Amino acid sequence: MKTVILIGANGKMGKAALTGLGKHKVITAGRSQDGCDFQVDITSEESLRKLFKEVGHFDAVVNTVGVCEYATFEEMTEAQWMTTVMSKMMGQINIVRIGQ
Ligand SMILES: NC(=O)c1ccc[n+]([C@@H]2O[C@H](COP(=O)([O-])OP(=O)(O)OC[C@H]3O[C@@H](n4cnc5c(N)ncnc54)[C@H](OP(=O)(O)O)[C@@H]3O)[C@@H](O)[C@H]2O)c1
Repeated sequence: MKTVILIGANGKMGKAALTGLGKHKVITAGRSQDGCDFQVDITSEESLRKLFKEVGHFDAVVNTVGVCEYATFEEMTEAQWMTTVMSKMMGQINIVRIGQ
């Protein structure tokens, strides 16, 4: 049995991931703590550091969070790009970089 942190546990993909983790000790985390063990914002380095510090030992992380804006290339504003990059890209990178 491994200790697995599941980020995005309240989402559609998070709930699906949970069904495959039955053999493990699962620690759930989400942006709103609603029903989750911990609150985390994957776009915030500080929030990720706090999560890993509070959880302590773990064996694996399953992340199902990745927000992106949908618009044509011409219509995407800088703010929309930043939302997308900070969640879909830097969120994933920082989970591994800080989590390790
Ligand atoms: N659904 C599909 O069929 C499908 C298929 C392929 C790929 N995907 C991808 O899978 C990812 C999740 O999709 P989904 O359908 O599960 O979305 P969803 O149902 O909207 O769930 C997203 C979850 O992510 C959480 N979240 C959002 N921003 C966050 C942040 N900054 N930090 C921490 N948690 C955050 C939300 O928490 P709150 O509820 O607290 O806001 C919510 O629980 C997306 O990247 C999507 O593109 C989905």
